[in-house]
Amino acid sequence: ALERTFSIIKPDATKRNLTGKIIAKFEDAGLRIVASKRIHMSREQAEGFYAVHKERPFFGELVDFMISEPVVVQVLEGENGIAKNREVMGATNPAEADAGTIRKEFALSIGENSVHGSDAPETAAEEIKYFFSDAELVG
Ligand code: CMP
Repeated sequence: ALERTFSIIKPDATKRNLTGKIIAKFEDAGLRIVASKRIHMSREQAEGFYAVHKERPFFGELVDFMISEPVVVQVLEGENGIAKNREVMGATNPAEADAGTIRKEFALSIGENSVHGSDAPETAAEEIKYFFSDAELVG
């Protein structure tokens, strides 16, 4: 089914001018951009977005990183969009990512891993709502 997913191009990638190359990977895989904006997240925004991870030892580091530089938040749509996006991104840890994936090609470490993508339909819906109004979704 046609599915929407939420994506973030993270600070390590925007800083190294990789936004276009990463978007090309999404588009080449058949994902369409239905919403896109470049933002500099506030600490509150990043803490709220990653609230499920707040007990993790890397939470502070994760939030500091996500607000260190601008990011590009997007809604991507495609056939099995959530799984397709996860396939294009590759494993969270770039050392374990398959050849040709975004994280294999561009990520620096498990923290500085260039992209975020929703892991399930429920989280996709929540994450999209966290950053976009309905009027901003232009399918
Ligand atoms: P993301 O999909 O954005 O969701 C949570 C993020 O936490 C994850 O990608 C990683 O970038 C980050 N993360 C996971 N494990 C670690 C770790 N051990 N150290 C630092 N960051 C991590």
